[in-house]
Amino acid sequence: MTDRPVAVKTASPPLVAVKGMNDLLPDAAERWEWVEGVMRGVLARWGYRNLRTPIVEPTQLFVRGLGEVTDIVEKEMYTFVDELNGESLTLRPEGTASCVRAVIENNLLFDGGKRLWYAGPMFRHERPQKGRYRQFHQVGVEALGFAGPDLDVEHLLMTARLWRLLGLDQVVRLELNSLGGPESRARHRQKLIEYFESHRDALDEDAQRRLYSNPLRILDTKNSALQALVEGAPRLTDDLDEDARAHFAAVCQGLDDAGIAYRLNPRLVRGLDYYNHTVFEWVTDRLGAQGTVCAGGRYDGLIAQLGGKPAPACGFAMGVERLLALMAELGRTAEAEAPHAYIVNVGEAAARHAWRVAERFRDAGLEVVLHGGGGSFKSQMKKADASLAGFAVIIGDDEAASGEVSLKALRGEVQQARLTVQAAIDMVSGEREAAGG
Ligand code: HAM
Repeated sequence: MTDRPVAVKTASPPLVAVKGMNDLLPDAAERWEWVEGVMRGVLARWGYRNLRTPIVEPTQLFVRGLGEVTDIVEKEMYTFVDELNGESLTLRPEGTASCVRAVIENNLLFDGGKRLWYAGPMFRHERPQKGRYRQFHQVGVEALGFAGPDLDVEHLLMTARLWRLLGLDQVVRLELNSLGGPESRARHRQKLIEYFESHRDALDEDAQRRLYSNPLRILDTKNSALQALVEGAPRLTDDLDEDARAHFAAVCQGLDDAGIAYRLNPRLVRGLDYYNHTVFEWVTDRLGAQGTVCAGGRYDGLIAQLGGKPAPACGFAMGVERLLALMAELGRTAEAEAPHAYIVNVGEAAARHAWRVAERFRDAGLEVVLHGGGGSFKSQMKKADASLAGFAVIIGDDEAASGEVSLKALRGEVQQARLTVQAAIDMVSGEREAAGG
């Protein structure tokens, strides 16, 4: 036999997800839905209504809204040109600017303030690490058209309640600051420029570039070599005017009255330019470097800045991945979802009877999995067991001929009986009610 060259067909490597963007597998998705459900409950109880905006917006919305000299706008946005019409578009890096755009465009404030919330994916081209992703999810809350400190307090009370409901209240703490109004900020900005000018040699490239365009951003640097310099910088709290002081004092008073603990952090400036007055972050020590699970504050100038009739506003957003990671860290898991029944069917006649039985169970409000793909009775029963269902509904030739089913309890005392379909539904429903769900 002569050796002949064999043509080796190499399969192309399997495709993988974009770096920093994650699949949410069913186990995690169930925990996610549980957390979202708790949040929705709180939002509904506080009178907040859902808003859904597009994931893609005109790039200018974020440039004008978040500030040209911010990390997000300078280097983290997924921006591309729609080649069909030449428009520059950006995957939303956050939800506040989109919410404000929608509110202005649809004139939602015509009859007074609005309480809104949204949830969904956000996109930032950051360096991925634990708790920091390029696609991540926020649940965001915005109150637009309200000026008073009572709304700032409302948001902090809402979040505090959420932590209690999610069992996280012992591991998150509130950091609070005031950025004041436009005049205090202008004064502080001048002082910052003078301070950083006198330490110019110590500044990194980013800080040098931001020195005159946006010195406040230097305080938000991620460069640990600049921390000591930032620590020594003039504090905005020392420059707050009367109004700003009164607003902030009222927020602190509201928290004291509600018994919510907080730490005043004069270094808290946030990474987006639209904030003024109250800013806050809920942080935890349990997630390493990415410990901020929720953040927000007041942004009274943004609506006017984006072309709307001037109106005050405040809000916050929670990072869903970080909240779930924190719950996992604490060993808090949502109960695994299990169907009420798993329908085993062997043979052609049984299969035809089985889907009708499944529909009748579903009509009765029960969750059922109808076995698909054939297989022996034994292998189907194994699947039924693995599904964690309470019952197996067994259909073979005999059951198909009589129009009945055999019902087998899979948990507790295992029993099997031949029943009419209705009697089987009644029994599974009765068990469900006894189990409280
Ligand atoms: P932010 O601080 O940029 O604020 O984001 C809010 C939260 O989203 C963070 O505290 C964090 O939990 C989560 N988050 C941010 N970036 C990432 C990431 N790369 N990976 C995972 N999670 C992340 C805002 O977005 C403002 N729009 C909040 C707001 C609403 N202010 C007023 N209204």
